[in-house]
Amino acid sequence: MMERATRGKTAEEVRPVENIELPTWERRHVLDLDDFSRGEIEQVIETAGAMKEVLSREIRRVPTLRGTIVVTLFYETSTRTRSSFELAAKVLGADVVSVAATASSVQKGETLIDSARTLQAIGANILVIRHRQSGAPYLVADRTDMSVINAGDGWHAHPTQALLDAYTIHQHLGDLRDKKVVIVGDILHSRVARSNIWGLTTMGARPVLCGPPTLMPWGFQPGYRGNEDTGLPPVEVDTDLDRAIEGADVVMALRLQLERQQAGLLPSIREYIRLYQVDEERLARAKPNALLMHPGPINEGIEVSPEVAHGARSVIEEQVANGVAVRMALLYLLARQR
Ligand code: CP
Repeated sequence: MMERATRGKTAEEVRPVENIELPTWERRHVLDLDDFSRGEIEQVIETAGAMKEVLSREIRRVPTLRGTIVVTLFYETSTRTRSSFELAAKVLGADVVSVAATASSVQKGETLIDSARTLQAIGANILVIRHRQSGAPYLVADRTDMSVINAGDGWHAHPTQALLDAYTIHQHLGDLRDKKVVIVGDILHSRVARSNIWGLTTMGARPVLCGPPTLMPWGFQPGYRGNEDTGLPPVEVDTDLDRAIEGADVVMALRLQLERQQAGLLPSIREYIRLYQVDEERLARAKPNALLMHPGPINEGIEVSPEVAHGARSVIEEQVANGVAVRMALLYLLARQR
């Protein structure tokens, strides 16, 4: 892996562009992980390792993407994804244009495709898009010539989150093969869970989905071992967190969208905390070196207890930091394909 290859050298001795070999990368878009091969995910992990080295330099700026225009077009709020993409593009020397739908001509009725074509007309090469409608990034990829990165579409996918999660697990635990990864919470509405299911299974890990039955996707009952109808690869399902967490290598808590209680999908938040909060007692059932992850934003005290969120096993802030390196890697890899 690139991190090992760069160890012992000064920052200036390592030049990410020249040192990364790209024997297999042919992808123009990052829309989900359902069609990513193991080799491609490994390529992202390796490239992100090199990018992390760039981020550790005193001057965090390389000219690798000079002349490339990266546009972020967000129809939903974001702190982590948007800021890390923009920082990633700037560190690589790209020009960055940031468009929030709430402050754009979308408010005057402009369609998604018209907005995307307008951004292409001003020279955008790579479009990073978040949209409330599942499938929106696919439409833009189909109707424009830009490289498109899905920064989250509806309940469907959040591939760059899953890639930074895979990178973070790999950093701590090495090869993901046979690692038990318990994903707990609102699986039904989670694009993070869906992309992680694809990414983790492709890497040979064992995802176990856990949460209230009302927050599980259709077809995902306990005992589920793979069913064509769900459109997802085989995973384990368990609605009992105390049982599911036994021997876990990773516990990934998801944000509980509090409006779910109003929608009648949860009896009460207090009940959810009692059955599904990851606290110290529950985490003690996992392996001694187990990682506690959360994509953020967190409802601290609901999905995870404050002690666990800020405890020794938490890698939540590392996930955020790794997001910059992983997004640098993706921008770099896509720009090479253009
Ligand atoms: N995890 C994540 O997507 O966070 P943001 O909504 O802040 O981008």
